Amino acid sequence: MLKKTLLVILVVGIGIQFVPVPTNQNDEVLKTDFFQHIEAPINIQTMVESSCYDCHSNNTNYPWYGRVRPFVWFLQKHIREGKDDLNFSTFQEYSGRMQREKIRSVISQLRDGKMPLEEYLWMHSEAKLSLAETARLIDFFENLNTQ
Ligand code: HEC
Repeated sequence: MLKKTLLVILVVGIGIQFVPVPTNQNDEVLKTDFFQHIEAPINIQTMVESSCYDCHSNNTNYPWYGRVRPFVWFLQKHIREGKDDLNFSTFQEYSGRMQREKIRSVISQLRDGKMPLEEYLWMHSEAKLSLAETARLIDFFENLNTQ
C-alpha cells in the first residue's frame, strides 16, 4: 500500500512538470517603465528592481525553483495578482492621478512592512529591505508625490 502511494506521488510529481506555465519574462525595457521617466538614484532603482520587479513588472528573474511545479504556480499567482495592482513596466500608462495613487499605495505598503511579501523573502533574502533602506525608499516615493 505504502509502496503504491509513493509510486503515485512520484508519477504525479513528475507528470505535473509537463504542465505548461506561461513565463513573465521580457528583457526589453519598455518606454513606459517607471525608471525611464523618473530620475532616481541608482541605489533606489536597484532596490526597487531587486525587491519588487519579480512580481510588479513584465520581467521576472526566475529563481531555481521557478521552473519546478507546484512552486512556480504560487509564484505565478503572485505575479498575476501583483501586476494587477501595480506594474512598474507599464507605469506610464496609468493616468497622472492613478500614478499618484499607486505611489501612495507603495508608501503605505512599505510603511506597514507588507512588501515584499513575507513568503517570498523566505527564498529571496537578497530582496529583504533593512529598516534604513525602507526609510530611504519611502523618502524617495514621498518626494515624488509632493513634486
Ligand atoms: C512575491 C511577489 C511580490 C513582491 C516581490 C512584491 N509584491 Fe507587492 N504585491 C504582490 C501581490 C500578490 C499583491 C496583491 C495582493 C496583496 O495585496 O497582498 C501586491 C500588492 C502590492 C501593492 C498594492 C497594495 C494594495 O492593496 O493596494 C503595492 C503598492 C505593492 N504590492 C508594492 C510592492 C513594492 C513596493 C514591492 C517591493 C518593495 C513589492 N510590492 C514586492 C506581490 C509582490
